[in-house]
Parts: sequence; C-alpha cells; structure tokens
Amino acid sequence: MKQIVLMCVAMLMVGCSSNRSDYESPLEIKRLAFGSCNNPRLYNENMFAAIEKRQPDIFLMLGDNIYGDTEDMDLLKEKYQELADAPGFASLRESSPILAIWDDHDYGVNDGGRHYVKKLQSEQVFLDFFEPGQQSPRSQRPGLYTSGLYGPAGRQVQIIILDARYFRDELPRTGWERTTDYVGSYEATMNPELTLLGERQWRWLDRQLSVPANVRLIVSSIQVLAHEKGMENWGHYPHERQRLFELLKKHRVSNTLVLSGDVHFAEISKRNIPSYPLYDFTSSGLTHANKAWAMAKNHYRVGNAVHELNAGVIDIDWEARRFVLRIIDRTSKELEVQEIPFEQLQFD
Ligand SMILES: [Fe+2]
Repeated sequence: MKQIVLMCVAMLMVGCSSNRSDYESPLEIKRLAFGSCNNPRLYNENMFAAIEKRQPDIFLMLGDNIYGDTEDMDLLKEKYQELADAPGFASLRESSPILAIWDDHDYGVNDGGRHYVKKLQSEQVFLDFFEPGQQSPRSQRPGLYTSGLYGPAGRQVQIIILDARYFRDELPRTGWERTTDYVGSYEATMNPELTLLGERQWRWLDRQLSVPANVRLIVSSIQVLAHEKGMENWGHYPHERQRLFELLKKHRVSNTLVLSGDVHFAEISKRNIPSYPLYDFTSSGLTHANKAWAMAKNHYRVGNAVHELNAGVIDIDWEARRFVLRIIDRTSKELEVQEIPFEQLQFD
C-alpha cells in the first residue's frame, strides 16, 4: 500500500487536452518488468515473486491480467479479487508501482472488440481495481489508453499504453485449417475502413509522440510485428500498422521499443521499418504458456521463442546508453538476453 500511496502523491495528473502525458512523475526508471496472460485459477508457480526478485522500478501488466470472459460484472469483480489474492501479487504491488491495460479476456470476451456490450461497465471495474479512488485522465474518456512521463530531465521515459479493444473493429475469421505455422483464426483485412485504435486514440497518439522524452515505450496488448501465425495482431490491419510506422517516422522517435503480450510465449521481434529498426518485445504466460504456438512462424524473431512461464525485464542503462532486454522464468533466471545500444535506435 505504501507504494500505491506514493504513486498517488508523486504522480501529477496533467489532463488530456494538451501535448503532455497524462501523468508526470519524478520516478527514475532504470528497470521495468512486464507480463501478460495471468489466470489466477491456474496458479501453480509464483511469477510475481520471480518478477519482484528483479526489483523493477515499475511493473506493466499488458492484458489478460485475469480471465473474466463474462458479461456478469459481479463475476468480473470476483475474478479481480482472485488476482488481488494471488500469491506474490500484493507483495509485488507493494514494492513496485503497477500500470495496466486490458486485453480480450479481462475486457470480457475472447478476441472481443468495439461491439462488446459491457465495455463501459468492464472499464469501470478495471479502473476500480487498478486506480481506486483516482480521477485519472483515462477515467474521463472512453477507452483505457494512457501515458506517463517518468524521471528527471535527461532520463525521461515515456510509457504510452494503447487500447487495442475498446474501438477495434471485428476481423473476419478464416476457418483455415491449423498447421504448425498457422495457429490462429484470422487473416489480414483489405478493408481500410476497419480500425484497431479508432480515430480519437490515433489523434491522441500523434500528440503523445510529440512529447519530448529520452526513451519511449509503446505498449500494445497484442503483437505489432509478428503477423504470420493467425493470432490477433496489428498485421491484420495493415493500414493501421503502416499508420503507426508513419507516425514514428513523422516524429523521428528515438530509443523507442514496442512491448506486447497475448500469445502465451515470449519472443523478441525486429523489423526495419524504413530507416528505423523497430523492436517488439513480447512476454506472455504468467500462469500458462503454449509450446506449439511458440513454434509458429515469425520471420521477424531474433533469438529464441520461450515457451516456459515468463516475464519481460528491461534495463535502461543510462550510463552505457543501451537497453538490455531479458526474458526471465519462474525462478527469475534469464532465458534470453538482447542488448540494444541507443545509437542503433535512431532514424537516419
Ligand atoms: Fe488476449
């Protein structure tokens, strides 16, 4: 509770009309951790303890934080309480501030989008759990996208959290037979009218990317780069993904990574969008992971896919001016490590 109170006191809520982040905080971030896909009913290993061992300055929950899958808001609240009671969660919440976004299962319906009938109510239950008593900017508008700017001048980290559910148009299902490489249900739409973020969130993101920051992390519950395996990802809205790339180019962002979850394994993807090497660091599977899905094709993958229970840890090494990306297991052991110097993460 101490840390939650600290967050409330230290974080200044800025408001959503200006070209500023929703929150500003003096908290200097040298290490952050993140994870997704947490079903307290499948609890058998304490990934929260493994994360706490790494003592992150902040912990990001990237969605499917519970498996609500219900239009019954009382049941949804019960399932959030199961998260609160999960071994290790309260201790981690005490030691690290938590920033969260939802994905489909905590939103309320598998692979759900803007037509989910209880999205307003579900949003309120989410906010009551993660931001009790706060009048945060995102509680004042539809959707749960938000941003924070952390740290002192010269070490400012902007965390941009996108909402890939509230405004999202439905994708056509393929009905294709599953193979070792195609393990999902979708293909890319050719309809440029279909949206993932919705116009209001796009305009907000444009403004956010103009906020000066030394390091930027863009959080999406679903993968941005890996697109071949048929599971929900930005590649199914190719015009929306291109719009993201164009925005990054427009603002000539530097030292910027994407973080994602959802797929029940971990991997690091890299794609050269013209003149910028964009990394998408995916961690998924706090309580359950899937080896077959980890073996599906992703030609942007660098290093190995990890099908153990996992979390992502990112060190921001301000002295050496580099990121160190780590995938850790249930014992906090590193299974994959990738170092990325800041000097590589610049637009030409
Ligand atoms: Fe999901």
